[in-house]
Amino acid sequence: MGIDYKAEIERLKKALDVTVAAHYYQRDEVFEMADIAGDSLELARRCKDDPKEWVVFCGVGFMGQSLKVIAPHKRVLMPKIACCAMARMIDISYFDESVAYMVEHGIKKEDILPITYINSDASVKAKVGEMGGLVCTSSNAYKIIERGLASGKKILFVPDRCLGQNFAIQMGLKSCVIGVGECDPKEADVICFNGFCSVHQLFTLDDIEFYREKYPGIKIAVHPECDPRVVQAADFAGSTSQIISYVNGLDPEQKVAVGTEYNLVHRMRKANTFVLSSTKPECPTMNETTLEDLYKTLKSIEDHSPINEIQVDEHTIKWANIALERMLEIK
Ligand code: 13P
Ligand code: SF4
Repeated sequence: MGIDYKAEIERLKKALDVTVAAHYYQRDEVFEMADIAGDSLELARRCKDDPKEWVVFCGVGFMGQSLKVIAPHKRVLMPKIACCAMARMIDISYFDESVAYMVEHGIKKEDILPITYINSDASVKAKVGEMGGLVCTSSNAYKIIERGLASGKKILFVPDRCLGQNFAIQMGLKSCVIGVGECDPKEADVICFNGFCSVHQLFTLDDIEFYREKYPGIKIAVHPECDPRVVQAADFAGSTSQIISYVNGLDPEQKVAVGTEYNLVHRMRKANTFVLSSTKPECPTMNETTLEDLYKTLKSIEDHSPINEIQVDEHTIKWANIALERMLEIK
């Protein structure tokens, strides 16, 4: 008979000094094994404060890596070190090119305040930290941009153009995207890098029109990684946790269509049949982690030969930590 992964995972969790963390986009069977679950900000905060030495992090690479940066004493293992497609769109050379673009367009380097979405590699976070900048997530971007603006500098926002534009619109700011049309950094408050999430681009205005026509009175909730036109047409935009709270706060009979990753929407649907979703966009990298991977990772701790341990060099930890801590201290 094959291994009963679920039972073995339960056994290993009891036997070892380990916490299992999972993002909402993980497959249900993996998500159910988590001791700590949440959106990216909650996972960073809660895992950092968790007393256990070992964390097995089910999510995408930047999440486990961010935890290692803010809690370097922890042993962080990831059943799959899968890289978020958006995070892969920016590296330090693209970051430097974006800074150079602003300088070529008349903004002095010391007048640029970079903000990176947490969906980026630690090396990009370190560059941002060295330039006096900070990290944001989808749940705190408003406050972080507000803090950035208080410095009187121009904001360089990487890598998600949608998140940057969506919050600029919400805050009544001017934004532009480098490489898209005329992007004059002198005329804009928030200058965005041209990165995006391929999963959230699948939600379109047509989907919203379809639902509004088919179910008059329906509410539409989306993630701010969606296109700004979609976010403008929705009733609510927020991080994964904020979407869950929004839906839970609605009248139980209120129909709502949710525009975010399939595993989360499907889980919400099971609890509330009035939750609808247009397409089935699974995040390919979030879906890479299986129950078998989780079991093997825990077993590797028991066998004293840990696999997929996250390592970050000292220089990167120092500066990426500064950028992340600047975010974490903002409540
Ligand atoms: P949250 O911060 O909402 O968890 O978002 C993470 C993410 O990658 C969404 O695509
Ligand atoms: Fe990255 Fe998009 Fe997947 Fe989120 S849904 S982890 S942004 S690829």
